[in-house]
Amino acid sequence: MKKFLSILLILALIGAAAALSACSDNAGSGSAVETADETITDTAEEEAFNYLLLVNKLKELPDNYEGIVDLIDVENSLGDKFTIERKTYLAFNELRDDLLENDGIQIELDSVYRSVKEQQEIVDEFTEEYGEDYVKKYVAVPGYSEHHTGLAVDIGLFVGDEFVNDNDQMIAQTELFSAIHQKLADHGFILRYLDGHESITGYAYEPWHFRYIDDPDIAHKIMDNDITLEEFLDEVPDQDMSPAE
Ligand code: DAL
Ligand code: ZN
Repeated sequence: MKKFLSILLILALIGAAAALSACSDNAGSGSAVETADETITDTAEEEAFNYLLLVNKLKELPDNYEGIVDLIDVENSLGDKFTIERKTYLAFNELRDDLLENDGIQIELDSVYRSVKEQQEIVDEFTEEYGEDYVKKYVAVPGYSEHHTGLAVDIGLFVGDEFVNDNDQMIAQTELFSAIHQKLADHGFILRYLDGHESITGYAYEPWHFRYIDDPDIAHKIMDNDITLEEFLDEVPDQDMSPAE
């Protein structure tokens, strides 16, 4: 009987040891380590800012966006105040200086970051002044504007002494804009709303609206091939996005 009890005790001890080992194997199989690694990877992914973010009539600004973008407050040479993504501002200054020094063309910021509320104000103002059809061609629905990203820059032009920022007056400045557009990619910008690509972008030609994408090589691929960001990203809508006439 004593021997039988001893055998039982030994078997119980072996069972307990096996159970303990299984537990520690589970922990060791890395669930804790992997979780930590995954957390680090996730954080790194969250922190890598995507300068190729697509926002258009079908793609709304992501919910978490304002938590990850580095927006700064700046002032242009006319004393107007703006909010803009940090690297976009540095690149814009380089573009502006390049144009002034090498082409004698003077440009300035005219509209950059816009909150959803500010975009709504523009929709209301333009609807009253120009009507709904015009708004569909030139103004995004709040929440769907690239201006919410801080990466889109509308410029105004100095023509003689006059600062021109009216849409029709700017569209008439074809030679100036042609020279300006040739410099965009070198500084990491693309022209976002191309002439003749309204069925993809959903907007009329806007020679003044530049989008910072950070990488001059990619910017050249897009600009030199006269394609839209949607085409570069292989995200062309499968419906005709042309604004109503
Ligand atoms: N003008 C562009 C389309 C915007 O309103 O975002
Ligand atoms: Zn714009």
